[in-house]
Amino acid sequence: MTGPTNPIPAPTGWYVVAKENEVSAKKPMRCWIHDIPLVLYRTDGEIRAFVDRCPHRGAKLSDGKIRDGKIECPYHGWRFGPDGALAEMPCLVGTLPRISATKLETAVARGLVFVAVGQPAEPPYTNDEFDEIQFWRPIRGEVKADIADALENFLDPTHTIFVHRQLVRSVTNSNRTRVEITAQDQHVLARYLGEGQAGGVVAALMNEKDRALSVGRFVGPNVAEVEFHGPSSVNFVMTGYMTPTRDGLVSGFGLVGLPGPKWWARLKFWLLYPWIKLVHAQDQKILQRTRSNNEAFQDKRQIVGPLDVLRNYIDAIRAGKNYPAATEPRIVEMNL
Ligand code: FES
Repeated sequence: MTGPTNPIPAPTGWYVVAKENEVSAKKPMRCWIHDIPLVLYRTDGEIRAFVDRCPHRGAKLSDGKIRDGKIECPYHGWRFGPDGALAEMPCLVGTLPRISATKLETAVARGLVFVAVGQPAEPPYTNDEFDEIQFWRPIRGEVKADIADALENFLDPTHTIFVHRQLVRSVTNSNRTRVEITAQDQHVLARYLGEGQAGGVVAALMNEKDRALSVGRFVGPNVAEVEFHGPSSVNFVMTGYMTPTRDGLVSGFGLVGLPGPKWWARLKFWLLYPWIKLVHAQDQKILQRTRSNNEAFQDKRQIVGPLDVLRNYIDAIRAGKNYPAATEPRIVEMNL
């Protein structure tokens, strides 16, 4: 079988491209990873993904139709089956040539559609640590930023004092906080102990009295996650899946996990959601303004400061470089 090779210039991994309920069995959907267009559609109850380029003359398969579970190119009507192989060529007399559209592996988890770039060694990351969390709600946002900056921003507590003042964190009750950083393969963990009450509107809405522990987790190459724990249980988890799409944009698909009975978690989610959107808008603004400011300069000079505890790992893992495993925690102290 012949067909173009995988052309996506991104680190190997799973990339979220859509919410599951956005993909239809009637109309193909276009999405992007790293400026490469993909087409998604649903057949036999599964979501399929191909590079959105017909191997014949390169027409957009997403402009075509889905017929009998096959995707039909709008130009000469070639139809490709769920495995990407050419299944029908209208007007052809004789044997069908062995031609294929470029297929990418897909997976669905918690209402999100993942596409594999390269051959990831593990299934898509989801946080399965907490039995008390039965409610996960997918949300999405978008920002014009470097993906490493977006990942770091998601995990960085110090900017919250300034960018999200009184919303995510209050400035009046900072506490000496011990940060324990461990790293193994693609997984890097920062555990913040001793923050106490975070303050701010979001913590109040979560009824978060004492933040006994918060966790920032990076799972390479493109997942950032935060957890807030009270003294006896987890209060909030948000997993952010970052996908570089096109024209310098990064799509952030989030999964918000809340503990408790589902009706209660749902209610809490709808109370929190407007504030999560406001936090996202503030992050969008600072990331975009920082990016456009940096574009005014030729050099890419930046400093990894002593409180940027995850940045070197994010950059190394995304670049496919080795770094020393840290199974014994590295300790940093900061006032949060
Ligand atoms: Fe797709 Fe010709 S370009 S069938």
